[in-house]
Order: sequence, then structure tokens, then C-alpha cells
Amino acid sequence: MNTLLTPLAGRRILLGVTGGVAAYKAADLLRRLKEAGAEVRVVMTTHATAFVAPLTFQALSGEPVRDGLLDPAHEAAMGHIELARWPDLILVAPATANCMAKVAQGLADDLLSTLLLATDRPVAMAPAMNRLMWANPATRANVETLLARGIQLLGPGSGDQACGETGEGRMLEPVQIRDAVIERLTTPGPLQGCRAVVSAGPTREPIDPVRFIGNRSSGKQGFAVAAALKALGAEVTLVAGPVSLPTPAGVKRVDVETTAQMLEAARTAVAGAQLFVSVAAVADYHVADVAPRKIKKHDASLPLVLNRNPDILSTLRAEFPALFMVGFAAETDDLETHARGKLERKGLQMIAANQVGDGRAFEVDRNALQVFWPGGSATLDEGPKADVARALAALIADRYRNP
Ligand code: C5P
Repeated sequence: MNTLLTPLAGRRILLGVTGGVAAYKAADLLRRLKEAGAEVRVVMTTHATAFVAPLTFQALSGEPVRDGLLDPAHEAAMGHIELARWPDLILVAPATANCMAKVAQGLADDLLSTLLLATDRPVAMAPAMNRLMWANPATRANVETLLARGIQLLGPGSGDQACGETGEGRMLEPVQIRDAVIERLTTPGPLQGCRAVVSAGPTREPIDPVRFIGNRSSGKQGFAVAAALKALGAEVTLVAGPVSLPTPAGVKRVDVETTAQMLEAARTAVAGAQLFVSVAAVADYHVADVAPRKIKKHDASLPLVLNRNPDILSTLRAEFPALFMVGFAAETDDLETHARGKLERKGLQMIAANQVGDGRAFEVDRNALQVFWPGGSATLDEGPKADVARALAALIADRYRNP
């Protein structure tokens, strides 16, 4: 077998085709993927079948095309859950604005959206839509959500559109998509073989059975870092404080509430791991005596005694001297001095610092980071947290590989 000519030999791709005029290009894409050696199965949405007949894809793939969720004959051959686990990659091309919106929302009202919800496999999408649909704030928000979950977007490109307009939203050409798929499936990520642990979100320290002390961390940056490390090939465990964010694809998640629980979960997870990225905004104190029953409002004041929590990074540094550790620092002033101080005090290999206050960093979708390591620094420009996470992951991979 000549792997230069057939770089996708032995690889399985589930091609999802949704209802846009670019669906006709998906037939050519299917041919190109087959030529490259891939085994391809096709799932079409009902709208896609209005543009191109399923028979075209059946003839080109040599496999029956699936377009219904509740088709007893198909389900008997390979159930939809099995189909969701079958491929090395699910590629949706073209991906309409509607398809992206459904996936962002987690809807499962047809076969393709159900597969996308039920899969733990990597997903790539090649968007294709009118330029105004692509630019619409609703689509922009969906794009952020999909990227944050580790879904790869291929394109769209810019140029003439079927509707007669010109702008961004054209599906990439089949060979461009094929090449991106080859790259994705054949290049080992720089963190291949690395086990990474990421902590994310706030912690909650109980006062009584109903109240707690918490903070404003949303967990978004940490979840995005977990997805970005995963995309670079790492095996990722995410220790998450109480947030209701979706788990990035392929990432193992452990939910915790208090700092003590986060330390325990991180300690268990880093045994056998090489990398720990501590993004969580951890409570530094806990209530000394947690009331066993709800505290009633009898008294004019309610003193609470707070005791120090262990510092997770410092604790793990002492227990796992070889662990590559990245900390986060949220500072309101004197960013570099404070960040470098923590880098040294906690024995870290790298620290990512963000300026907070005035509505920055916490509970918002954008961020900017200053990253410091012994003898170096980098500035990661302001952008969506998913973009910042990808830039940080690349920097971590680089320092991890070449310390
Ligand atoms: O000391 P400070 O909390 O500002 O340092 C921030 C870094 O330390 C973050 O990476 C945070 O996750 C970590 N941290 C920790 N244990 C704590 C508090 C913070 O590991 N108890």
C-alpha cells in the first residue's frame, strides 16, 4: 500500500451532507476522500436530498446512504449509536447555518444531528452559507460555541456565492477540504502521548446546606484550554468546578465543588500525567465550621471564620516534582511582577496572567493573556477565549517539548 498516494488508507470518515447548494460539491469531496484511501459513509439531511440524490453518494461511496433517524432496516444493519462511534472523523460538508445552530444547541431531531450529539469522535465542519447568514451575530455565537467544544471549522472561503452575492461564506473547494482532513488525520499533534490535566471554573465553599462562598469564574477559559490541548493530541482530564458548560469532545471530566475536592481530584488525575494547567479560580479559604442546618436570620451580624485552603499548585509541585505545571494569575495591577513572583513561588514552568477588574476576563467571552516562563514571555492578543486557548496550548506544547 502506497501511503503517499493513499494517506487516508484505513481511515473511516462519516461525511454529513446538509441542505445547501454546495451539496453538489460534496459528491466530488467524497470522490477525493475515496481516492486518498478513506472508507466513507454518507449521512444526508432531508434538505440535502433536495439538492443531490442519495443515489449519487451511494454510487460514489459504495455504501448505502442514510438519511433517516428511525429507519428500521438501517438501524438493524448499524444502529445510529454504533454509527456515531464508527468513524475516525465526522466531516460535515457543506454545513449550513441551521446545522451549526442545531449542533451548538445540542438538538437531535434528525439522523445527522443525533450522530453529532452521540459521538465522541473528532468533528470538522465546512460551513457554506450566504455572507449575511455567516456574519449574523447568531451564527457568530454558534461558531464560538462549536470552536470552544473542539469542533474544527474548515473555511468558509470568500468569493462568488450561488445567490449572486460576493463575500465570506463559500464552502472551501473539495481538494482544500480533503487536504485539511489528511492533515488532521495523519499529523500527530505535538502533545501526542502526553497526558494533561486541566482545572477550570470556580470552587464553592459551603457555609450551610444552602449557602456557599463562590466567585465569578465561568469556567470558559479552562474548558477552552482543555479542548485546545486535546486538539494538539493530548489525553485530557478536566477537573471542573460547578459550571454548566458542555464537556469538550473526547475530554474526560471530573466534577468537584470545593477546593479540597479539587485538590484530591487533581492529585489523582496528575499521577501518571505529564502536564497540569491550573486555570481554576480556586477559593483560598473555606468556612471553619460549616453549619449542619440552614442558618436562620436571628442576629444582626453573622461572623464567619475562614481557614486557609491548601494551594493546589504548591501541593502538587511538592508531590510531583517532574510535572510540567502552568498556572494562571488574575491581577488588577503590576501584572508582570505579581505573575513572575507566583511563577517562582509555586515552582511553575509557565504562568498565564490576565488583567482583571473593569469587567475584564471573568464571566465574559473574550480574554487576553501575558504569558511568562523563566527567561521569556509572550503576549496573546485579545480575542475569543477559544482563540486565546489555542494560542496558549501551542505555547505550552512548544515549551513542554523544548524546555
Ligand atoms: O495565588 P493565586 O491564587 O493568585 O495563584 C493563581 C494560580 O494558583 C492559579 O493557577 C490557580 O489555579 C492556582 N491556585 C491553586 N490553589 C489555590 C489557589 C490558586 O492552585 N488554593
